[in-house]
Amino acid sequence: MRAKINLSVLVSGGGSNLQAILDGIDSGTIANARVALVISSNPDAFALTRARKFGVETAVVSAAIFPRESRRTERMSELLSKAKTDAIILAGYMSILPAEIVRAYEGRILNIHPSLIPRHCGKGYYGKRVHRAVLDAGDSESGATVHFVDEGVDTGEIILQRKTPVLPGDTVDALAARVLKVEHEIIVEAVARTCATLSERNAEESAGGADDGTG
Ligand code: GAR
Repeated sequence: MRAKINLSVLVSGGGSNLQAILDGIDSGTIANARVALVISSNPDAFALTRARKFGVETAVVSAAIFPRESRRTERMSELLSKAKTDAIILAGYMSILPAEIVRAYEGRILNIHPSLIPRHCGKGYYGKRVHRAVLDAGDSESGATVHFVDEGVDTGEIILQRKTPVLPGDTVDALAARVLKVEHEIIVEAVARTCATLSERNAEESAGGADDGTG
């Protein structure tokens, strides 16, 4: 039996993308994985309630608890390694991940963004601000993007992107709700794909390890 891929999911708010991941694991769409840990930057995030309901370990790492950035980074690193994290998913995480952590988990960190990157992304574009920008620009379509996280903001390699129309008379909330549906689809697909890749890599590594010294 192959070891399950341990996901650590970082959140700040409602956690509907976290819920999609938990449901995806439950239904088997995301195979051979578990959510080992949920870290929130906000102690009041409903995402924490969702995680606890699934029996997932939770932690809060916020500027209020750890005013010094170096302490926040240290605490987060400790938690991620204690949970034996294979991959990190930023699912509505509204803080910037410390560069030290980005480097430590390079190629194994995914972020979901509520627009068609490179449209409406980067510093200052998060949550409803993104949908406001789409409406202000008069775009006829929007969508969502899952990408790998690098040291920039929303600049990493795109894994999956899906479009949805902007409809006449759309409000920020109406557009946000339509985009969120797309997010839930592509986050599950991207996490499933990443877990499959990591599982294969682990299997190859253990097969390689088994060969050591025999030839
Ligand atoms: C989602 O729309 C997500 O794409 C966005 O915040 C929302 C969180 O919803 N993330 C960002 O804007 C990050 N740049 P959720 O808490 O229900 O998953």
